[in-house]
Amino acid sequence: MKTTIAEVGQFVGQEVTIGAWLANKRSSGKIAFLQLRDGTGFIQGVVVKSEAGEELFKAAKAVTQESSLYVTGLVQEDSRSPFGYELTVTGLEIISEAADYPITPKEHGTEFLMDHRHLWLRSRRQHAVMKIRNEIIRATYEFFNERGFVKVDPPILTGSAPEGTSELFHTRYFDEDAYLSQSGQLYMEAAAMALGKVFSFGPTFRAEKSKTRRHLIEFWMIEPEMAFYNFEDNLKVQEEYVAHIVQSVLKNCQLELERLGRDTSKLEQIKAPFPRITYDEALEFLHKNGFEDVKWGDDFGAPHETAIAQSYDKPVFITHYPTSLKPFYMQPDESREEVVLCADLIAPEGYGEIIGGSERIHDFQLLSERIKEHNLEPEAYEWYLELRKYGSVPHSGFGLGLERTVAWISGVEHVRETIPFPRLLNRLYP
Ligand code: 4AD
Ligand code: MG
Repeated sequence: MKTTIAEVGQFVGQEVTIGAWLANKRSSGKIAFLQLRDGTGFIQGVVVKSEAGEELFKAAKAVTQESSLYVTGLVQEDSRSPFGYELTVTGLEIISEAADYPITPKEHGTEFLMDHRHLWLRSRRQHAVMKIRNEIIRATYEFFNERGFVKVDPPILTGSAPEGTSELFHTRYFDEDAYLSQSGQLYMEAAAMALGKVFSFGPTFRAEKSKTRRHLIEFWMIEPEMAFYNFEDNLKVQEEYVAHIVQSVLKNCQLELERLGRDTSKLEQIKAPFPRITYDEALEFLHKNGFEDVKWGDDFGAPHETAIAQSYDKPVFITHYPTSLKPFYMQPDESREEVVLCADLIAPEGYGEIIGGSERIHDFQLLSERIKEHNLEPEAYEWYLELRKYGSVPHSGFGLGLERTVAWISGVEHVRETIPFPRLLNRLYP
């Protein structure tokens, strides 16, 4: 019976064949332990010389790391392995022999591993992170589909800059200038006026010269947008959504979290509602906790965000930032024109901002003034402004950065391990 490692549990006591790679191997004169992986999981294959016979035992001892093979064996329950099963090997057929696999069980430096990202992805740790990433994506579709959101795909090649013009990837679009999308938001607003509640999931690009553990040049964003939702409604969706993905990972990725050594007690607490503080309250907190220098109107950096997040065991919303710090489209607070109805969601444990969101300006006059004030090319935003001309309604939305969210939930230090092929300041290879 041909099967996969993930499915061996259905065949206890039976003989199965699995297409696999040899991840690692240990052997003595009498017994060989083959660590096998097939993409669906990891399992140990045991070859005992006295039972397997001379020839099979010799073959098992000779298999090199990352050779591909068909392994036949008897499925046994094994309470000692976290996976719960083991294979008593009865046959081995080499498909392709690998020579001198560069990533050996010894420690390698990060740059070396990044140069071999195409192979590094095969490791147990990377496998676990990718599975968690996949679970977050699955739970995202589940959450929004269950609530009547429609998935809409905004363009990647655009003529506008929602988040300011300084971090744009420029390209030519035949005779015109074009940019790689920084955010699909403006298009999602148009979609919300057509479909009510929408969400997108796609790549976004920031030509940011930042070299930190939180910054990628190319990252994936989930951007929901909701017609008739105000600032308050928007925060509710966000906290329920984030709690849903965390709880889904806890439920469906136990093995992966364990492999990464993640402290899951911290994740179990992630349930709605989340605490909220205003920018002003955050500033006051910072002044009392060793950051006397930050002034009203300054943006918060990573150390500030980390200090604030440390006071909570859940993600925390920082709301009502000064208008001058935020993009042109945010709705001002009626009672205080100098701040906007926005919130950044800061993850616990120093992972920083995972969501940026706001209520959007729906007044035609105000939005056209803001476009002028921000020196944006009026022609490029004409269509966006037109949304305010034909049945404009209050609406809100947000963007969740997938990689920062994966980093936080997996407990991995750097976002470079949370995307299959990271695009970093100095890296376009592999
Ligand atoms: O705060 P940002 O820039 O917000 C927007 O783009 C809005 N237009 C979203 C919206 O309202 N529809 O980005 C949103 C999130 C951040 O909170 C962060 O998680 C992630 O995207 N992000 C990055 N992730 C990795 N590398 C970068 N360089 C990132 N820049 C932003
Ligand atoms: Mg932001």
